[in-house]
Amino acid sequence: MGRSVLLVLMALFSVTTTQFIPPYTEDCRSGMYPPTGPTFKGGVPWYTVDLDSPPHKRWTALITDKKTDLVNMIQAIKDLANAFVPSGRLIELVDIALPVVVDTLPYPFSDEIKGIATTSGVPLGEVVLFNIFYEVFTVCTSVVAEDSNGELFHGRNLDFGLFLGWDMKNKSWIISEKLKPLVVNIDFTRNNKTVFKSTNFAGYVGMLTGIKPHIFTLTMNERFSLDGGYIGILEWILGKRDGMWMSFLTRSVLENATSYEDAKNRLAQTKLLAPAYFILGGNQTGQGCVITRSRVLSLDIWEIDLKLGRWYVLETNYDHWKEPLFLDDRRTPAMKCMNQTTQTNISLKTMYDMLSTKPVLNKLTTYTTLMEVSKGTLESYIRDCPDPCMPW
Ligand SMILES: *[C@@H]1O[C@H](CO)[C@@H](O)[C@H](O)[C@H]1NC(C)=O
Ligand SMILES: *[C@@H]1O[C@H](CO)[C@@H](O)[C@H](O)[C@H]1NC(C)=O
Ligand SMILES: *[C@@H]1O[C@H](CO)[C@@H](O)[C@H](O)[C@H]1NC(C)=O
Ligand SMILES: *[C@@H]1O[C@H](CO)[C@@H](O)[C@H](O)[C@H]1NC(C)=O
Ligand SMILES: *[C@@H]1O[C@H](CO)[C@@H](O)[C@H](O)[C@H]1NC(C)=O
Ligand SMILES: *[C@@H]1O[C@H](CO)[C@@H](O)[C@H](O)[C@H]1NC(C)=O
Repeated sequence: MGRSVLLVLMALFSVTTTQFIPPYTEDCRSGMYPPTGPTFKGGVPWYTVDLDSPPHKRWTALITDKKTDLVNMIQAIKDLANAFVPSGRLIELVDIALPVVVDTLPYPFSDEIKGIATTSGVPLGEVVLFNIFYEVFTVCTSVVAEDSNGELFHGRNLDFGLFLGWDMKNKSWIISEKLKPLVVNIDFTRNNKTVFKSTNFAGYVGMLTGIKPHIFTLTMNERFSLDGGYIGILEWILGKRDGMWMSFLTRSVLENATSYEDAKNRLAQTKLLAPAYFILGGNQTGQGCVITRSRVLSLDIWEIDLKLGRWYVLETNYDHWKEPLFLDDRRTPAMKCMNQTTQTNISLKTMYDMLSTKPVLNKLTTYTTLMEVSKGTLESYIRDCPDPCMPW
């Protein structure tokens, strides 16, 4: 989506919903961890996905469990599409056109998506739509920080559902709410041993948040650009298929990269369908970076540099060398809280405090994940942002 389009939409939205102005910012939170209280909606269940089993069977147990929530979510997407294009033509198109697309997806993704459709009973085209969805409507905050002992911590808020239907009565985003029951933690195994772990949405085969224990941690944030997500995805559907889906790349990096450097090279050099930010943490001092990607190139790699006093790198959805959109500045409050915390006191606990501070926490925030590479841990929490709270 073009940034100007986004700006106009946001401005329109603010004008028509004056109850949200002024922006609900607050002092940096403290003492939020372990998570309790009104911003914590619940824990996240764990599942195992066995990479040794055939792709179309891998997701059966998880999808069987989450079938009802997945069907509800897809129904909400369809209602929304039908509200935009009455007569049901849009979904008709999805049901006809997208099943063809599934066979163009690389191994193992096509088979995995087919397996999910079979298990859930959701038409194949709609499962494909669900998998495309995240490539487009995700806004987030990610951070990698190094403490004074050289320990690396990686945290993120996943904010999803911008403009996807505002529920006036509940003051919430319809799709964001429907997504919360689908959040799962997954332990991906080979030979019964963990290969990597992720926080995921049931039914989605790409990765937005994950850890390869003791080796690296990885999150992806959307990067808006005129040459944005829609164009590459449309090209793919129409037959020009020379880039990789972003969240398929993160998945294959988590599955198959063997070191921070290997992950960094793959993330920087693989041609993509759409621009993106990759936020990568390693297992040694200085190993943390934000990779700013265009579809073809890595535009910039911004690394932790202790000599320069840069003990963390933080990314929302704007290039770090540019000002964020004034209507959507989560970066300044997030950095303010990081700076107040100081390198000496950074930990999963204080990182959770930062990620719980409005507007870093907002109405789109679906989950918060915290990862510590040296311990190999990933923990995640479903979030809520009670009023008063920014819609994004
Ligand atoms: C609004 O909130 C109520 C109470 O939490 C819930 O039961 C209801 O399903 C929500 N409505 C929608 C459309 O999500
Ligand atoms: C994995 O563990 C299960 C039970 O813990 C066992 O039945 C199975 O044979 C193991 N598989 C492999 C490949 O080791
Ligand atoms: C990882 O590598 C294995 C072996 O080459 C391959 O079969 C698998 O498809 C790769 N995984 C992804 C997600 O690309
Ligand atoms: C860090 O990662 C490298 C691979 O890049 C691995 O060889 C090394 O054992 C890891 N270090 C620790 C302390 O786990
Ligand atoms: C945080 O500290 C960094 C490094 O000193 C500085 O560049 C940045 O402006 C500070 N940001 C805020 C919001 O305090
Ligand atoms: C860091 O934590 C210690 C112990 O909790 C506290 O005394 C100190 O004030 C904190 N420093 C900062 C800059 O917040």
